[in-house]
Amino acid sequence: MSSSEPVVITIDGPSGAGKGTLSQMLARHTGYHLLDSGALYRLVALAALNVGADLNDQHQMAKIASELDVIFNVDAGSTQILLGGRDVTNNIRHETVSMSASQIAAYPSVRVALLQRQREFAKLPGLIADGRDMGTTVFPHAQTKIFLTASPEARAQRRYKQLAAKGEAVDMDMLIKDISERDERDSNRSVSPLRPAEDAVIIDSTSMAIDEVFAKILTAVKQ
Ligand code: DC
Repeated sequence: MSSSEPVVITIDGPSGAGKGTLSQMLARHTGYHLLDSGALYRLVALAALNVGADLNDQHQMAKIASELDVIFNVDAGSTQILLGGRDVTNNIRHETVSMSASQIAAYPSVRVALLQRQREFAKLPGLIADGRDMGTTVFPHAQTKIFLTASPEARAQRRYKQLAAKGEAVDMDMLIKDISERDERDSNRSVSPLRPAEDAVIIDSTSMAIDEVFAKILTAVKQ
């Protein structure tokens, strides 16, 4: 590979496996750019909800995806997300948006509409790409592919803590149910289902501290 090509490291896996945090840590460590591909699906869902569009209308969802007016403002490691000039950094994390994003992410035409936009994030010196199909579909030639997983209970527990820290009260059983439903949908859709690339390094973080997982990722990257 020529040194003028950006290095791409993909981190795929189900919701709540810690991809977001670990991708940010890795981006900081390497100085590479970061793609939070889930944010793009969330933005399409939010844009659709904002205009009261019918989420069952695949054609309209693809149109919204292809016309998405979004800016990612990266500043000192944190990212502000603007949709149509409005700061939606927190809005896209709401549970309603999560469920809607999972629904529209199953539409092949939405995925196609977002493909090129995602590939454009690969810039020098490199990219950490966080998602579900980064290693299988979007960046099949990535130098390192990680598939990060954890039990639904462990993932719900982490999500519970995140929401509690933000002062949002949630029911643990509801969270486990939501996570399992989303896993089911993300894993069983016909295009780009959630699954590890054949050459991915699989890491199960269920009973691991974040630093331990990060060390494993660094080892995989160095190999
Ligand atoms: O990673 P996340 O929870 O922010 O992702 C939101 C939704 O988008 C999730 O239900 C799955 C979907 N998604 C996807 O289908 N492909 C990706 N590369 C990233 C996310």
